[in-house]
Amino acid sequence: MSTLVKGIHHITQCPGPAQQDVDFCTQVLGQRLVKQTVLLDGNIPIYHFYYGNADGEPGSITTSFPYSRKPGRAGSGQISLLSYAIPKGTISFWKEHVERHGVDHDDVQERFARKYLRIRHPAGMQYEVVEADDCRRPWTTKQISADVAARGFFGAVMSVRSIAEQEQFFVDALGFRKVGVDGPYHRFEVSGGGPGGTIDLHHEPDRAPGSWSFGAGTFHHIAFGVDNDEALFAQKALYEELGYTDASEVKDRYYFHSMYVRSPGGILVECTANVANGFYRDETPEELGTRLNLPPWYESQRADILARLEPVTVPEENRPRRATKPAPTPVAAGAPVGSLSRTNADFSRYPR
Ligand SMILES: [Fe+2]
Repeated sequence: MSTLVKGIHHITQCPGPAQQDVDFCTQVLGQRLVKQTVLLDGNIPIYHFYYGNADGEPGSITTSFPYSRKPGRAGSGQISLLSYAIPKGTISFWKEHVERHGVDHDDVQERFARKYLRIRHPAGMQYEVVEADDCRRPWTTKQISADVAARGFFGAVMSVRSIAEQEQFFVDALGFRKVGVDGPYHRFEVSGGGPGGTIDLHHEPDRAPGSWSFGAGTFHHIAFGVDNDEALFAQKALYEELGYTDASEVKDRYYFHSMYVRSPGGILVECTANVANGFYRDETPEELGTRLNLPPWYESQRADILARLEPVTVPEENRPRRATKPAPTPVAAGAPVGSLSRTNADFSRYPR
């Protein structure tokens, strides 16, 4: 059956200090820093980093709002971890690799007959590397070669106090199919469980609720990709006809368009439609992530924004080395099929 949702597009987290996050995501997770920009909501200049595989593909993108100003609280009603797909037989490499970096981790475990290793970001968020067949092109570093590198998302795990209503949301509103239960984990797939198409609900009935706001050490939301703006507005209409009537307006995120709803279990769920040229709107393939980019409507405030951001150094392996794919032929953005929302912040009001 065809579904509007095609799989995970990105997952957004709130780490602490910006440089700590850049170093962990690029050097330990081996991800490519794909984009440096800023949070487009509110009046406070906060970085927005995007990390992904060699091609910066949807389904591999972790995004970070470094939010040292306030700690978050991990708990139920939250994304509890994201899973990266690694080649079969490489889990021992990853255990040695994270130990070399002094990263907190658990023993190798198994769920739904797949081996995984759980590791922790210094700010507190958890990840898994999971052995799976996946042919997407990985980014590589001096320590992580292509034969062991993470390909992109395998999926994500969400902590919920009750399964039933969150299951109904995933099945009826997002088009997922329940495929199994392993202890407290309930597994759902979309698009046949391909890359980024797997979600596990972790049933934790006694776990206190986690925070919903931006806060260091927590995941903030998960985004699922849809084909285009028409599908995005159709998804909003579907939410509303099912009674999920707090779906947001459709927001212009420059590289894509986004619409948000709070799911019954508490997790904020975004649906996302790419715009023409996506991450290549303002950088060539070999330049991705090497400088701060702002959407055109914030460019006049560049000096005010830069003066309020902590400087970061892009690791050597994430600086331009070669084109990873041919520059795309520019595609004219089509006329939006519905009205788009933008926040017009005044960053000069925030103290330096
Ligand atoms: Fe998002």
